[in-house]
Amino acid sequence: MSEQEFDAKVAVVTGAASGIGEACARLLAARGASVLVADRDADAAGRVARSIGRDSRAFAVDVTDPLACEEMVRAAVEGFGRLDIAVNNAGIGGPAAPTGEYPLDGWADVIGVNLSGVFYCLRAELRAMSAGASIVNMASILGSVGFAQSVAYVSAKHGVVGMTKAAALEYAKAGIRVNSVGPGFISTPLLATLSPEILAVLQGLHPTGRLGSAAEVAEAVAFLASDRSSNTTGSYLVTDGGYTAQ
Ligand code: NAI
Repeated sequence: MSEQEFDAKVAVVTGAASGIGEACARLLAARGASVLVADRDADAAGRVARSIGRDSRAFAVDVTDPLACEEMVRAAVEGFGRLDIAVNNAGIGGPAAPTGEYPLDGWADVIGVNLSGVFYCLRAELRAMSAGASIVNMASILGSVGFAQSVAYVSAKHGVVGMTKAAALEYAKAGIRVNSVGPGFISTPLLATLSPEILAVLQGLHPTGRLGSAAEVAEAVAFLASDRSSNTTGSYLVTDGGYTAQ
């Protein structure tokens, strides 16, 4: 078999049992990486890991638990011998309501998974990584622009972009890169509860006139994870069909 860019690399992907995370896990594995498929849905993570085959394994993690995030990193290092790539992707949508009426439990849930969860993973990963490693945090277009009825999600994703920049500065000299990705609306199970009418509106918000695919986001992640982006750190790479160019 010919040489591939992630041969001998070890990756952990959170939220890898579905949607964008699953697409990232599959692409990294297809290009040679050993992948820890981490998700709070243990059964689905197991199915994805088995269908990837090769060197991939499932790991049950709830990213809102800092100790569980440390165990996840330990599992990658003990299971595969090292950690080169991390994709901190697990996320939820949360309730839709105006800020003045936003449910407090919804705020806590979204901030817990989408902001604190990324921080807990990032913190544990940085301590296990060395020069040449690359971390990709899953933000959103809503990491740079607002969206009505989504104050918790927008706040968390702006936070992820900022957290990425802070960590990138701290670890640049050590040769560990930290970047974020900003997808537009992507056709995944996260959007499955939306009505066809709302989906049509969302499509129309993108100059391309369509939603992006998880595979397209995975390509951006793979670029940032690879040595092809060796001088890129602290960046926020949008893949949004022109949404934020308007
Ligand atoms: P999805 O719902 O298809 O997949 C999310 C995965 O994360 C699921 O497998 C779920 O079990 C897992 N997860 C949720 N909470 C978790 C927790 N506490 N611990 C561990 N795993 C957990 O969603 P999708 O669309 O693939 O989203 C992935 C990421 O991409 C999220 O961070 C989301 O905010 C972001 N994103 C999604 C967009 C979209 O339009 N679908 C657009 C921009 C960003």
